[in-house]
Amino acid sequence: MITVHTIRELREHVRKARSAQRVIGFVPTMGNLHEGHISLIQRSLGDDCFTVASIFVNPLQFDDPDDLARYPRTLERDQQMLAEAGCNLLFAPDVDEMYPEGQDRQTTIHVPEVSEGLCGGSRPGHFDGVATVVNKLLNMVQPDKAFFGEKDFQQVAVIRKMVDDLCLPVAICPVPTARDIDGLALSSRNGYLTEEERQQATGLYRTLQEIANDFREHKDISRSLTDARERLDQRGFRTDYLEIRRTSDLAPASPEDDSVIILGAAYIGKARLIDNLLIDNLTVTLNASDD
Ligand code: PAJ
Repeated sequence: MITVHTIRELREHVRKARSAQRVIGFVPTMGNLHEGHISLIQRSLGDDCFTVASIFVNPLQFDDPDDLARYPRTLERDQQMLAEAGCNLLFAPDVDEMYPEGQDRQTTIHVPEVSEGLCGGSRPGHFDGVATVVNKLLNMVQPDKAFFGEKDFQQVAVIRKMVDDLCLPVAICPVPTARDIDGLALSSRNGYLTEEERQQATGLYRTLQEIANDFREHKDISRSLTDARERLDQRGFRTDYLEIRRTSDLAPASPEDDSVIILGAAYIGKARLIDNLLIDNLTVTLNASDD
């Protein structure tokens, strides 16, 4: 695998691959890679793409400077994981390469509605930062396909809308959440957890499953969410939000929806964890007992 740090080198390698008739697949990340990230690489390779990954801890999407400062940077280890997975090219720019005019003078992108509320409500400006950097990265790489994890479900929705609204010529490919055996969604932020917090952390997904089971049975949003915050808090978390939304656009769910998604965010120790659980085919699986 080749690592490049400049846009010029990146474009040179992508151009070569394209002239060899390769389809270009792109996996943007902030590094500190785990098997969840690698599953995106595998999907891209599985689609026979010349696979480009990026690692860039994007300051524009952090609303908390402490959070940005302590975000783990593990480039060498990440390079090794990507190479082992078979990734073709890594783009690892520095902040000056991405924001040569300075972050404050950067044109930004705001994706309305779908970026508001949920994580957008708790982290002001976060999705403007995500949309802006992903737009830039897509323009730099110009991939045919870009792969994003469903763990960050709102992020996928924001990027899909940006790509549709701005007519970007790229297919957005969502990839299911990779989990540990106890159900905890893999995340770079899991590294912030103590051993005890790691044991408790599975409580987020368990709470989502309980909400899902109740909702499948009763199809009553407020009933399913009643007490859920308290239950999650009792499991060692400080709940940020637990919500049930319509899957297609994350608008508030209604009883007619065929597909809804339960989304949760909660603090545990030094980490803020997010997760979600999709409930599909509601008209068919109504009364199903488990997922
Ligand atoms: P990061 O958190 O590094 O995640 C990079 C990609 O990996 C995202 O698409 C994310 O959804 C996916 N991912 C993370 N954990 C996953 C898991 N357990 N299973 C499957 N996929 C998972 O998300 C970002 O970086 C940034 O916001 C970025 C899009 C790179 C823009 O800066």
